[in-house]
Amino acid sequence: MLAERTTRVGASPTMQVLLEADRLRRQGVDVVDLGAGEPDFPTPAHVKAAGRAAIDADFTKYTATAGIPELRQAIAARYREEYGVDYADSEVVVCAGGKQALYNVAMALFGAGDEVITHAPGWPTISDQVKLADATPVHVRSYAEDGFALRAEPFLAAITPATRGIIINSPCNPTGALMSEGELAKIADEAAKRGLWIVLDLCYENLIHDPVPHNLPKVLTDRMRDRAVIAGSASKAYSMTGWRCGWAMGPKPVIAACTAIQSHSTSNACSISQRAALAALEGPQDCVAEMLAEYRRRRDVICDLLTASGRIRCVKPSGGFVLFPDVSDVLSPGGIRTSAELAHALLTDVHVALTAGEAFDAPGFVRISYATSLERLREGAARIERFLDALARGERIRPLSS
Ligand SMILES: Cc1ncc(COP(=O)(O)O)c(C=O)c1O
Repeated sequence: MLAERTTRVGASPTMQVLLEADRLRRQGVDVVDLGAGEPDFPTPAHVKAAGRAAIDADFTKYTATAGIPELRQAIAARYREEYGVDYADSEVVVCAGGKQALYNVAMALFGAGDEVITHAPGWPTISDQVKLADATPVHVRSYAEDGFALRAEPFLAAITPATRGIIINSPCNPTGALMSEGELAKIADEAAKRGLWIVLDLCYENLIHDPVPHNLPKVLTDRMRDRAVIAGSASKAYSMTGWRCGWAMGPKPVIAACTAIQSHSTSNACSISQRAALAALEGPQDCVAEMLAEYRRRRDVICDLLTASGRIRCVKPSGGFVLFPDVSDVLSPGGIRTSAELAHALLTDVHVALTAGEAFDAPGFVRISYATSLERLREGAARIERFLDALARGERIRPLSS
């Protein structure tokens, strides 16, 4: 028998699409993969060079659990420059990705009997980590009709005597929505009064398409520095998902607890990746601007293509590299009934891989990644249109020959 906690979580559903698409691809099928949750660009050349140099210099041993001092310093410096928030190096822990940073934080802050408020649609790992910490996730909803705006009011309404913390992901995966500084301020004021934690997942902070104010770290530190934790990552901004390097910043006791927890699981983040992440943070940033400009171009193209026929509705995302369109108009009780069935049918019939909204607690939606070339996006959109045309005629498309 497995431990009880294994019954609370399953394998990440966003991974399952990738696995199925991969299986088809290995059979020689031309799959248009719009399921990817990671950048398609190579890691920037100077970052790769720093990784190679680390290997050549035999920088291949354990490091301090919390990370090499230069990187902790560089992370603190980055947030100081970008947001005007002041963290000491000892208030930064480097982890194997933002995911581990958030996991450490959940383990350090939450436990049995605690409620932790987060938002839906949302990245499923946030809730599952809360469950693994023996706490209970409480979801407040954002709505497509409202641009998926993360508003303070439902968060405040969800607070109970059992609430211990609030986790906010902005820009949000999968909606691409941002929390505004004003809405976060309202939540932070209340959280400060009640002694609640706020954890901010800023994994996509460098991928915001339009220049809108998003200084969430300052909003939190001005109001509740001793109860705020910020998680970030090199993964998405620098196309470094496989290197596994992220971080958490917060009050010293929280970071010390995260470091202690990490010391008994993975120890330090990979030494080579830490040197590479240092080069990413301290080196030229034009690579980020270039990737962002390309994402923006793709976002506009795919959004227009998918909504042209009026069958699919889509809120244009403010950040990240995924769209989260509403496909409920093409579902019907006698045909394809759910977005999960639609995702499955699109994969089997026209070989387009995308992620059903069910994975993000949002049935009736699908997640479409535009972290792929414009050419593949156009091909994917054309296949989806062909599929929807056939569906509207009451037919299903025969699977494409492989
Ligand atoms: C919302 C969100 N937060 C955090 C992460 C963590 O990414 P990583 O562990 O690669 O830093 C992801 C990855 O997909 C994400 O979507």
